[in-house]
Amino acid sequence: MRQAGRYMAEYRKIRETRTLIEICKTPEIATEVTLQPLKFGFDAAILFADILLPLEPMGASFEFAKGEGPVIHEPVVSRAQIDRLRVIDPEESLPYVLSTIKLLKRELEVPLIGFAGAPFTLASYLIEGGKSANFAKTKRLMFGAPDAWAALMTTLSEVVRRYLRAQVAAGADAIQVFDSWVGDLAPADYAEFVHPYVHRILADVQTTGVPVIHFGVGTSTLLESMRDAGGTVIGVDFCTPLDEAWKRIGYDRGVQGNMDPCALLATRDVAIRHAQRALDAAGNRPGHIFNLGHGITPETPVDNVKAVVEHVHQASAR
Ligand code: CP3
Repeated sequence: MRQAGRYMAEYRKIRETRTLIEICKTPEIATEVTLQPLKFGFDAAILFADILLPLEPMGASFEFAKGEGPVIHEPVVSRAQIDRLRVIDPEESLPYVLSTIKLLKRELEVPLIGFAGAPFTLASYLIEGGKSANFAKTKRLMFGAPDAWAALMTTLSEVVRRYLRAQVAAGADAIQVFDSWVGDLAPADYAEFVHPYVHRILADVQTTGVPVIHFGVGTSTLLESMRDAGGTVIGVDFCTPLDEAWKRIGYDRGVQGNMDPCALLATRDVAIRHAQRALDAAGNRPGHIFNLGHGITPETPVDNVKAVVEHVHQASAR
């Protein structure tokens, strides 16, 4: 949930002289940035990288434009472009990510979470060219050209599957799969156009034995579908009450979540109250990973982050 990032002065300092992609491609610096937030006492580190990194070696170059987020240089509009996308070998095409994992494993005293974007969320960036309000172009292809959609999702799934396996082989102790924008789909469309691909990836990655966290935003109507697609742990966004979500998912799976990241923008007491709400909803059951329900915002006061970590440790100590 952007554990490392712009809310930290140390990160902003590094960003003064380097782009986000330069940081990701320089293992020593990506390692340093991954370690920065651990001073707050988090129980795990999340690899510093981005879900879009595999797109470049696949043949879809992009940049992070100032104030705009990601921009894909040539968004996918044709079947021919889909057929040209390469199924990469992560060892060859993303060696810097795997080197960062290896460096981190030498330094870390807490587990390391690796991650990748899920195929729908990656496809949405490839097709929309960046962020989108309604995913109209993505859905036009999905509904209007199902064969092209299947080809694109098949290619992305194979890349994500290989990439996650490579991260586990390099030393990642757990994996998070971000299907951030899948909450924009109706359950029937999730079942038809997304589930088979995510299922194939997660079934394979789970044979490695590492826990897999399956996360999306706005997924209140999709929790059962996401559970069926796979994941040791289902990530729950901040709009869905965690107790209801867990009951629906089933207590044989873990849950992660789900404090509203914007509650960190108010006073320390408000932040702690929201953290406690997530803990109360989890009811002290084993299998709850306390986390934010989505990404931390750059405006977040670091003292509130510190206070919430301390509170969660005290309140959940067994
Ligand atoms: O959490 C961490 O510390 C690990 C690093 C991490 C980043 N991106 C670095 C990053 C992780 C886990 C991601 C995942 C990611 N990237 C997702 C899935 C998670 C989610 O938020 O739903 C998505 C959709 C992306 C794509 C992406 N990267 C967007 C839309 C943006 C722009 C966001 C913004 O607020 O401007 C990014 C940039 C990005 N990736 C930042 C960070 C720390 C912003 C900081 C910067 O520009 O230096």
